[in-house]
Amino acid sequence: MIPSSLVALSYLFVTAPSFDVSRFPQDSCIAQVNPYLAPGGRNVYFTDKTCLDTLPIELLQVPGTHTRRVKTPKEELTRLLWVEREAVITNEPSGFVRKPLDTFFERLETMKTYSFGDAHDSQQYVLQGQSVVPHAEMLAHGHTYGLIAIHPSLEAVFDSLLPIHWRGSLLPEFHTAQVPVPSAAIERVRLIRDSVKFDPVVASLVNNISVPQMKNDIRFLTGEDEKSGILSRHSFSSGIRVAAAWIKERIEETGATCDLVPFLPGFGPNVICKYPSTVNTTETVLLSAHYDSRGSFGSTRAPGGDDDGSGTISILSIAYAIARREISFRKNVELCLFAGEEQGLLGSRAYAKELRSVGADLTLMVQADMLAYHAAGEPAQLGLPDLIGTPEVTQLVANLSAIYSPELSVGFTPACCSDHQSFHEQGFPSTQVFERAGPIADPMYHNSGDLSDREGYDFEQVKSIAKVQFATLLHATGFDLPSEDD
Ligand SMILES: *[C@@H]1O[C@H](CO)[C@@H](O)[C@H](O)[C@H]1NC(C)=O
Ligand SMILES: *[C@@H]1O[C@H](CO)[C@@H](O)[C@H](O)[C@H]1NC(C)=O
Ligand SMILES: *[C@@H]1O[C@H](CO)[C@@H](O)[C@H](O)[C@H]1NC(C)=O
Ligand SMILES: [Zn+2]
Repeated sequence: MIPSSLVALSYLFVTAPSFDVSRFPQDSCIAQVNPYLAPGGRNVYFTDKTCLDTLPIELLQVPGTHTRRVKTPKEELTRLLWVEREAVITNEPSGFVRKPLDTFFERLETMKTYSFGDAHDSQQYVLQGQSVVPHAEMLAHGHTYGLIAIHPSLEAVFDSLLPIHWRGSLLPEFHTAQVPVPSAAIERVRLIRDSVKFDPVVASLVNNISVPQMKNDIRFLTGEDEKSGILSRHSFSSGIRVAAAWIKERIEETGATCDLVPFLPGFGPNVICKYPSTVNTTETVLLSAHYDSRGSFGSTRAPGGDDDGSGTISILSIAYAIARREISFRKNVELCLFAGEEQGLLGSRAYAKELRSVGADLTLMVQADMLAYHAAGEPAQLGLPDLIGTPEVTQLVANLSAIYSPELSVGFTPACCSDHQSFHEQGFPSTQVFERAGPIADPMYHNSGDLSDREGYDFEQVKSIAKVQFATLLHATGFDLPSEDD
């Protein structure tokens, strides 16, 4: 188990997000350690004092890198949680001094006095009828990150304990080395990128995405349409299972084959849908979003209208258009809706690992996470990742945006890291599409008020970005339509 073995190493070496790890001398002890790539792009090395003492002093002093002593947690706290502040616009005065992670421990105290049971249909605090054990310990921290040991029962709820604008991810039990994207795979993306030019057929297909249909779908997923009965799509809620079955059915109606694939006990499943290729090839193009969500502390609602209901409806809207226009593809296509994203990319991590272990041949993948919101007065936008992902895939997406959705202002975002990171770690070409060229600005981010019927939720922007995802799919696969006289 990691906590005892890793924590026994007793020191953390934490890099800045943009730190080039090839600066470590090849023969140094730290170069032998597989770091944990935290959401946000920091590399976290579990090491010991002896090793740190041998590192060149100028590496230890690079701005943004830290060394931290790690406490040894109580034995029953067997899960390690990495938490960090996200790139979100806030009105906090600069220089405002506080310890945001105190909130986590205060909320934990509140939970100890919570009454569990069905009278309190608080899906966020009841794990399949079992109450959680609210024990955790801070092992090491900086101003914007922390390493916390938690009781395993908190796996299901830690996200709602975190202060707003902080996210957490469970450390995988074993570190696996990051697999670099092979140069042949990058070259393949380059060829696609360099060959794109306006195709009127693609333009007509991507314009088939229907906004009224997206409006219906999001209302079902958020429970704004009360008929759905969904209060929450938190990974452990009953609502996520309703959503999973419904998404599977919707995408199967478009001619795909879908499976609900469990990845960890208690979590809602991944929804994995496939369209076969008309050509004999192993190449596969994958579009994804996460359909789980997160709400406010103390609330049973987690509607996830923007995060990531918007990405989910973008995938559904593409599936509907595939069916309406009877498109067949010259490569394999997968549409995936992941769960467990809010607990640290857990669903996608399991799936990407599985794909790597069976030698899957992914041409590229694009994750859609938060597509709907922009502040009043801002134009419709498309944000692309500045750190995590394959630059060639990101450029391809930017180029296709300029061609098919010129209404979008394209730029980079530090908003970091969604399920594409899981594919990036496994050496698959990947990128993400996001709603803003800049940090997260949605005031309802990770909030129980994340509904679709509110100011700033822009369906036209969702459509514009979905057009880009769809165009990426069509250009990367090649496709056929029924002939006129059929
Ligand atoms: C999409 O294409 C179908 C079939 O050609 C057509 O009936 C439908 O009106 C189109 N929808 C949109 C939103 O363009
Ligand atoms: C598909 O291609 C593979 C590899 O080239 C080949 O081994 C296989 O026989 C082909 N399958 C069919 C149905 O043509
Ligand atoms: C594609 O993107 C690259 C880099 O962003 C840019 O230099 C190039 O001009 C773009 N090409 C087209 C056809 O838009
Ligand atoms: Zn998200």
